Amino acid sequence: MDYKFTSRSEDDTLELAENIEAEKFPGMVICLNGDLGSGKTLFVKGFAHSLGMNENITSPTFNIVKEYESGEMKLNHMDVYRIDETDQSIDFQDYFKQDAVTIIEWAELIQDKLPKERLDITIKIVNENTRVFIFKPYGQEYEDILNTVL
Ligand SMILES: Nc1ncnc2c1ncn2[C@@H]1O[C@H](COP(=O)(O)OP(=O)(O)OP(=O)(O)O)[C@@H](O)[C@H]1O
Ligand SMILES: [Mg+2]
Repeated sequence: MDYKFTSRSEDDTLELAENIEAEKFPGMVICLNGDLGSGKTLFVKGFAHSLGMNENITSPTFNIVKEYESGEMKLNHMDVYRIDETDQSIDFQDYFKQDAVTIIEWAELIQDKLPKERLDITIKIVNENTRVFIFKPYGQEYEDILNTVL
């Protein structure tokens, strides 16, 4: 079953991220897909802010992974858009095992490395301020979260 949420403003997207953050658990993996400028990084900002992090969250495009430890739980922020242009070999499985939340922008580009249990979110741009979030939970834990949040 697919779950959907319509965001009509930046604030709606930040609030959605906060509501999902409230259901976090160690080892949580959230995979974000969607066109350039759809709101993936803004979602991560909302999540990080809700974790209590004050630093400026920017996309880790060239270093692929940024690790933030100043919040309630560690956050691994990945942006794999340029994964093929870098010669970094990243042990993704090691990140997924951590007592951390991992959020991956452009996750579809590393499809075969993603964990079996995860939350996939695809963001569609409707117009300047409107986005549709489509959720696909893999695993009961994530399905329960969506039933709570949406
Ligand atoms: N409802 C909305 N939700 C999220 N972002 C919105 C919304 N309405 C407008 N925006 C704008 O869309 C842009 C989203 O930018 P963001 O960097 O989060 O996209 P992105 O998906 O990470 O892009 P990229 O693929 O380049 O990393 C911002 O400029 C934001 O202000
Ligand atoms: Mg981004």
